Amino acid sequence: MHSTNNALIAYAERLLKSERQRYLQLHPTSARLAEEARQHYLYGVPMHWMNDWGTPTPLFVREARGAHFTCADNIDYTDFCLGDTGAMFGHSPEPVARALEEQARRGFTAMLPGVNTPDVGAALADQFGLPYWQLATTATDANRFVLRWARAVTGRTKLLVFDGCYHGTVDDTLVDCVVDAEDGKTVSQTVSRASLIGQTVDLGLNTVAVDFNDLAAVERELSSGEIACLLTEPALTNCGMVPALPGFIARLRELTTRYGTLLILDETHTISSGRGGWARNAGIEPDFVVFGKPIAGGLPAAAYGFSAVLAKRMQAAKDAAPPGHSGIGTTLSGNMLTLAALHATLTEVATPAAYEHMLTLAATLEQGLTALLARHALPWCITRIGARLELQFCPTAPVNAREARAAQQDELEHAIHLYLLNRGVLLTPFHNMMLVCPETRPADIDKLLTVLDDCLSTLTAH
Ligand SMILES: Cc1ncc(COP(=O)(O)O)c(C=O)c1O
Repeated sequence: MHSTNNALIAYAERLLKSERQRYLQLHPTSARLAEEARQHYLYGVPMHWMNDWGTPTPLFVREARGAHFTCADNIDYTDFCLGDTGAMFGHSPEPVARALEEQARRGFTAMLPGVNTPDVGAALADQFGLPYWQLATTATDANRFVLRWARAVTGRTKLLVFDGCYHGTVDDTLVDCVVDAEDGKTVSQTVSRASLIGQTVDLGLNTVAVDFNDLAAVERELSSGEIACLLTEPALTNCGMVPALPGFIARLRELTTRYGTLLILDETHTISSGRGGWARNAGIEPDFVVFGKPIAGGLPAAAYGFSAVLAKRMQAAKDAAPPGHSGIGTTLSGNMLTLAALHATLTEVATPAAYEHMLTLAATLEQGLTALLARHALPWCITRIGARLELQFCPTAPVNAREARAAQQDELEHAIHLYLLNRGVLLTPFHNMMLVCPETRPADIDKLLTVLDDCLSTLTAH
């Protein structure tokens, strides 16, 4: 595997150089906009990380609809990034656009619940299964709020997460698990992620990180009786993709219950699994579940759900606290515009038929990609969670984040992404993720497979 990847990496550097030239020739308007934006934005973009895509200058979007978008230079792209899940139900879904138009002249935000609040609550419960809900503006915020509730109701301070996790920019979770050998023994330590800027508190004080799929490590930490909650995705999706081994999440449910720890499943990405999310389809009931990104059709919105038992404990914790700020909630969360978009998405867009289409086409893409890798004799793998697929530069799916990190090849990844982008196909940056939306068509899948085939032929020919 190493020799194949090394040979490809050597050529990827040359390919990257020529693809960067090609990008600049194809995108003069994006280059001009980048120059202008640099006058008023740090790194020339609204959020600094938008500059971290592998393109020589940011790609500016003119218009996005369904599974496609047009860039500033009027080139059409088939979008498999889909806003890294924000647009998992397609860009500007018609029912959401209509609901927004209708609400647009009836008020955006009032700090009061809109009249459709009960309908949205019922739609959340219907789609995701849990009876009680609270809203937030982003999944980051929802996770942050859930951590507060979990600590409040358990009276414990510590949080357990998995190495390689990402739950948004929630301070408590931005840790690394460092493994060292001391006196012949393996010692693991949880520390603040080295890349954080402006971090003052040692995040390892209250957070413990262990390897995903390591039940013994989980039980060791839970048995201390100090862990308020275990926060995880049903599969790690932000360090490549690390699927749970069979029975792993079910066992987490049992262990957390046994040790009085709350289980929080962050389904921001695994909402791709099927309608209702991963846990509902697997028949596992977490204490809290978090959804964000696409649940209001791509508008800022997130929601966290919980059981009736937990609702009582949360209410008791709030009632027992002195009056004043709870540290939970933001002004614009649950505003009227968001509620309109949420309702339309949950009832008219994220339908059983939409999911059936997405899952069927994603399975077709999985078969096509697997056949492509075999044809080019590449020791790489494809992992799929419903409508979400990941290509990783290792022969089988990693079991934990260390294995996933070992399989990452930045140059190769950038070369493949840029080659595809220059031919009208967009993958998700920072890893090789592809999403299928309700408006993705078989022709879009064919286009991705054809362009990737050309790319791999170019790479392997050298
Ligand atoms: C699993 C998971 N949870 C939460 C978040 C945070 O979402 P947002 O950036 O919309 O707050 C992300 C973002 O990528 C995520 O992948």
